[in-house]
Amino acid sequence: MKIIMLGAPGAGKGTQAKMIAEKYGVPHVSTGDIFRSNIKGGTELGKLAKSYMDQGQLVPDDVTIQMLLDRISQDDCAKGYILDGFPRTIPQAESLTKALDDRREMIDYAIDVDVPDEAIVNRMSGRRACVGCGATYHIVYNAPKTENICDVCGEKLILRDDDKPETVQKRLSVYHEQTQPLIDYYNNEGILVSVDGTKDLKDVFADIVAMLEA
Ligand code: AP5
Ligand code: MG
Repeated sequence: MKIIMLGAPGAGKGTQAKMIAEKYGVPHVSTGDIFRSNIKGGTELGKLAKSYMDQGQLVPDDVTIQMLLDRISQDDCAKGYILDGFPRTIPQAESLTKALDDRREMIDYAIDVDVPDEAIVNRMSGRRACVGCGATYHIVYNAPKTENICDVCGEKLILRDDDKPETVQKRLSVYHEQTQPLIDYYNNEGILVSVDGTKDLKDVFADIVAMLEA
């Protein structure tokens, strides 16, 4: 099973990707999480990525593409993966298509989690992310069992640096300019499906599972 999650920042890509990955036993591959773990580890890649992420800009394609192609060549990705946050530009999509063509593989579905911009800013201000494992919560819609503590690994939950309202606005405009064209790209490939991401997160998941098992 090879799936791409599309959707605006805060649409719920990460939330759904994690649930799909758990249900079907394939890795959840989030380029944002890989960048954040590099920032935490103080690597050169992390320093470079942070300078873009804090501005709400995309990390350059060459760096991102190489990092993602390396990740999906690892053994745990042999049976598939859920890509969350990649591709985000047409050159990234074309590089992925070409790399998969070379291996005679293909993506099964590109799932667009559709949420209007108005709903996004509200979600982001309530989001909390785990500094340890990257798990994502919402203070109202998906609260952890203990306030500010991760259910999964027990580490502290924080508001992401790029979730400040002005940075969220920038990320949304970058999304509309650079990432939204991928909806047409995957529609033309015949693998696009769209789900209503404004529903309760369990209902969004049920819609995705119903589509995958139809
Ligand atoms: P990334 O980490 O991918 O951020 P993003 O796309 O902006 O998306 P988010 O993680 O903010 O949102 P999400 O859709 O995963 O929503 P979530 O499930 O958390 O990327 C960060 C940065 O890294 C980028 O800006 C860029 O700089 C860089 N980067 C990453 N990939 C790159 C690439 N390929 N190329 C270049 N640069 C790249 O949900 C949001 C909140 O809403 C949560 O609190 C959640 O609990 C809640 N929620 C979820 N679903 C629902 C629901 N149905 N109802 C109510 N609340 C919900
Ligand atoms: Mg995410």
